[in-house]
Amino acid sequence: MAASASASLRHHLLLRRPRFPLCPNPTFRASSFPRRYQRLFASAPSSSAVDNGDTPSPVEPSDGASVVDVNPPRGTRDFPPEDMRLRTWLFDQFREVSRVMAFEEVDFPVLESEALFIRKAGEEITQQLYNFEDKGGRRVVLRPEITPSLARLVIKQGKSVSLPLKWFTIGQCWRYERMTRGRRREHYQWNMDIFGMPKVRAESELLQAIILLFERLGITSSDVGIRVSSRKVLQAVLNMYSIPEHLFTEVCVIVDKLGKLTREEIEKELISTGLSSEAVQGIIEVLSLKSLPKLEEVLGSDVEAVADLKKLFSFAEQYGYADWICFDASVVRGLAYYTGIVFEAFDREGKLRAICGGGRYDRLLSTFGSEDIPACGFGFGDAVIVELLKEKGLLPDLSRQIDDIVFPLDEELQGPASTVASSLRKKGRSVDLVEDKRLKWVFKHAERINASRLILVGKSEWERGMVRVKVLSTRDEFEVKAGELQ
Ligand code: HAM
Repeated sequence: MAASASASLRHHLLLRRPRFPLCPNPTFRASSFPRRYQRLFASAPSSSAVDNGDTPSPVEPSDGASVVDVNPPRGTRDFPPEDMRLRTWLFDQFREVSRVMAFEEVDFPVLESEALFIRKAGEEITQQLYNFEDKGGRRVVLRPEITPSLARLVIKQGKSVSLPLKWFTIGQCWRYERMTRGRRREHYQWNMDIFGMPKVRAESELLQAIILLFERLGITSSDVGIRVSSRKVLQAVLNMYSIPEHLFTEVCVIVDKLGKLTREEIEKELISTGLSSEAVQGIIEVLSLKSLPKLEEVLGSDVEAVADLKKLFSFAEQYGYADWICFDASVVRGLAYYTGIVFEAFDREGKLRAICGGGRYDRLLSTFGSEDIPACGFGFGDAVIVELLKEKGLLPDLSRQIDDIVFPLDEELQGPASTVASSLRKKGRSVDLVEDKRLKWVFKHAERINASRLILVGKSEWERGMVRVKVLSTRDEFEVKAGELQ
């Protein structure tokens, strides 16, 4: 008995021993945002301290028995209450924007069939899969993104859905990533997608949703911009050089690495697909364009890419968000399935990775053996946006907020206290029923959880059917009939 008690104490002490600093990045630690949010979305090691993917080994106590590691797997997060409040708040903003845009919420399993994510264009995402065989011998993945699941459900629903279909979802995605600031191995993504709207009206609606979200969060167009282009730009260049159609996706995936790899490395990769050096130079030159009139000059005005982009920019004027978006031909996006307009939001100071990204993918359904439906959407992660809110001092104060604390002053009043707490809860008030504590502790606790009222159940008051109420903001104190407490 004594031996087991001391083993349990040793176990407890080991679990409490600090293992790693909560935040490995000193600039982040020094930042001024509220301490209670410092764990949430905490920056991964900076790129100079790149994660090597090793799992930290469990603590080895001196007697050789191993103790469970209290850290979540590398690149993943726990959400203690204060972090969960921030996450819930952010998701509420996503939901509210989706509501005003008239989108319906959907959901999917995090575990999907691997076949849904097998693509051959050499995309990074397919090399980052958390994939394995389940106990039934099926190849499965923890989804790295949600778009294929959406497509799967659209196919499954078949003709029963009326188009256009506007869906949103918020879900966790898993990618075995090289961790940098705002990039983790799991993240939550808000997705909004439209199926059955072939024109750029769909893109213009999605851009409005993203901008409404930024505005709700207090972010302005001088903090953030959205770079827009179209994959049809690249398609037009490939046509100019008579490059075969089947190379299109591969070329897109390679040129998306511009900025990550050197120009020479990109050129080498393009040449290795069989492109002539003249075509490679042509592609690189067009991708450096940042002006729509210039693009029109190079490609001509009857090219679809130019017409689409002009229409989108004219819609942007009418929606009133033109100052948020800019044309940038270098935006191609790294996912194979995009076919038309593509876009990515970025912080104008250039400190962070892409905040969100999306585009048109009109031919994804046929890759799953179904008839194509024009589609367009975006994914907006939870990590980079929180980094940006921190940078801009825009994190909200989300302290805990409780209506009432009910506290029986004697042990024999615990029964009446349950009656009082129960009746208040039925009226919709949030009530913390506290007992077996000193009154001094209860007052401190009330302050800590921002309680509005303290309701004391005392013997003499209860005998008269009364309770004592203390309003904590004004320090007013009075008696109320227990049955009339609101
Ligand atoms: P994506 O660009 O791969 O697109 O991801 C979208 C967003 O998810 C990124 O801009 C970023 O905010 C977030 N994100 C991605 N990977 C990570 C990570 N490792 N850690 C933290 N955040 C991350 C897609 O996933 C497309 N399926 C989006 C889409 C929807 N396109 C059409 N519909």
